[in-house]
Amino acid sequence: MGLHIFVAIVATLCFTSVPAAPKPGQAAIASAHPMATQAGYDVLAAGGNAFDAAVAVSATLGVVEPYASGLGGGAFWLLHLAEEQKDVFVDAREVAPAAATPDMYLDADGDPVKGASFNGPLAAGIPGQAAGLVHLAEKYGRLPLATNLAAAIGIAQQGVPMHRRMLLGLRFRRTTADRWPAFGSVYYPSGEPRAIGELMPQPDLAATLQRLADKGMDGFYRGRTAQLLVDGSRAAGGIWTLEDLARYRVIEREPLGFFYRGVRIVSAPPPSSGGIAIANMLNILDGYDLTRFDEVTRKHLIVEAMRHAFRDRAEYLGDSDFVDVPVKLLMSPAYAAGQRSAIRMDHAMPSAALADVVPPSGAGANTTHFSVLDRDGNRVAGTMTINTWYGSAFMAPGTGLILNNEMDDFAIKPKVPNSFELIGSDANAIAPHKRPLSSMSPTFLEGRRGIAIVGTPGGSRIISMVLLAALAWMDGAPADDIVAMKRFHHQYLPDVISFEAGAFSDSEKAVLESRGHALSESSRPYGNMNIVTWDFASGEVEAVTDPRARVDGRVY
Ligand code: GLY
Repeated sequence: MGLHIFVAIVATLCFTSVPAAPKPGQAAIASAHPMATQAGYDVLAAGGNAFDAAVAVSATLGVVEPYASGLGGGAFWLLHLAEEQKDVFVDAREVAPAAATPDMYLDADGDPVKGASFNGPLAAGIPGQAAGLVHLAEKYGRLPLATNLAAAIGIAQQGVPMHRRMLLGLRFRRTTADRWPAFGSVYYPSGEPRAIGELMPQPDLAATLQRLADKGMDGFYRGRTAQLLVDGSRAAGGIWTLEDLARYRVIEREPLGFFYRGVRIVSAPPPSSGGIAIANMLNILDGYDLTRFDEVTRKHLIVEAMRHAFRDRAEYLGDSDFVDVPVKLLMSPAYAAGQRSAIRMDHAMPSAALADVVPPSGAGANTTHFSVLDRDGNRVAGTMTINTWYGSAFMAPGTGLILNNEMDDFAIKPKVPNSFELIGSDANAIAPHKRPLSSMSPTFLEGRRGIAIVGTPGGSRIISMVLLAALAWMDGAPADDIVAMKRFHHQYLPDVISFEAGAFSDSEKAVLESRGHALSESSRPYGNMNIVTWDFASGEVEAVTDPRARVDGRVY
C-alpha cells in the first residue's frame, strides 16, 4: 500500500444496487504533480464531475509541469460517460498550419535541416489544448470553465515551487532557450534556473489562462492571445496566421474498443497509433496461452508482437482525416494470425526480414498523463503533450506559453531520420491542417476484476508501456506493482529491445541473446504512469503514481 495516494473502500452493496451502471461512490485522481491532483479534487468537492476535474488537472499540469504539456500544445482525453455508458475520444491534437509543406524542414538538397522541426516556432503545430478544455467544460462539465481554471491561474500568479524535473529540463534546454528571450525571462530570471523549492511565478501565463477563462474559445483563438501568438511566432521565423488559430477545432472521435480474453479495452484511435497497435499486439498474443510459457519466452513473444505492430504503425498510420488507415484490418484477429505464423518460439525475427517499410516517428520525450474516476463512475484518461522537454523552447512574448514542437511527430521526409533519428512514411507526411501521428494512448480496461484507467508519457514507448500494464492488470497485478514494474520495448527499428535496468534477469538476457535479440539497457527510466483502478470485488478505488517521476521523490 506504500505507493497509494488514495484508497477508498465502498460497500459492494453500494454498486450492486444499481447493476446496470455501478458507481464507485468515491473518486480518485492520479496525476504527475500533487498540485494538479489537488486542483482536481477541489473541483470535485465543489460539485464538479470527472470532466470538470479533467479540465482543472490538465490546466494545472500545464503550469506546474511546463516542460511537458500546456496551452501551447495538444491533448487526447478518453472519456467514459457513466450515465450513458458511453465512451468518447476528444482529439485536441495540434494541426499543421496552412502554410506547412511536406518539405518545410528540408534544405535545397532535400536533406533535413538539423533542429528545424524541433526548435523554435517553425516546429510548432497550432495548439489544441485550450480548445479541448473549453469543449470538456462546456459539453461535459457541471461547473463553469472559469471555476475549473481557477487553480491553474492562482498557481501561475503565485508561483510553482521549482522541482527536480523542471530543473533537469531547463538544464537540457539551456542553449536553445537563450535564443528566445521571453522563455529565458521566466525560466532563467537571473541567467540561471531558480533553486529547488523557489517559487516561479508565470504572470503572462496567468493572464493568458484568465482570457481563456473569461472568453472561452475567443479568449485564446481570437483577440489578444491569438495576436500575441501570431506576432511572436512570425517575428521569430514561424508561419502561423490568425486564420490558423481561428479555424482550430476539437474533433470527437469514436474510441477503439476491442476484447482480449474477456477484458474490454478502450483506447485511442488515429491520429494516435496507440489503440491500433495495442489491439494488434493483443490479438497476436491471444494465439498463445502465455501462462504455459516460462517468463523469458513470454517476454520473447511480447517483443515479437511489438515488432510486428510497430512495423505496421510505420507503414500505415497517420491522420485518418487525410489518409486511409486500414483500422479494421490491423485490428482483426485474422490479420494477427498471419503475423503470428511468422513468429518463432526459439528465435527473434530480424526486423530486416519483414517487408521493407519505414519505422515510426513520434518518440516524444515529454508528455504527461492523468487518470480520473468520479463517484458516479465517470472517467477520464488524459494524455497531453508539447512533445519534447519544454517543447520548441519558444515562448511567444507576452503569452507565457511554450509552443510545442509537435511538427517533429510528422515524417519530415519519408525514410529519412528526423531529429529524433526516427523516420516515418507518406501516411504521416506533413500537410496543411493535418494532425501529426501520435503515440499517446489513454486507455480503459474493463473486466470482471473491475476498471483500470491507464496511460503514460514516453513517446513511442507509451504504446508498449500501456501494453505491459494491460497484461499485468489482466494477470491480477496490484496497481502499485503495475506502475513500478520494469519496462521493455521494441519498435521494429532499430531492431533492438530497449529495457530498463531490472526488466530482465541475467539469465533472461542470456536466453534472449541466444534467441537472436539485441539488447540495449536504457540509462533513463521509462514513462510516468498514473493510473486509477476500481476493484469490483472489494470496492476499492486506488489512484497510483509512478515511482520514477514523483515530484521531489515524494509519494502523492
Ligand atoms: N508527442 C508525442 C506523441 O504524441 O506521441
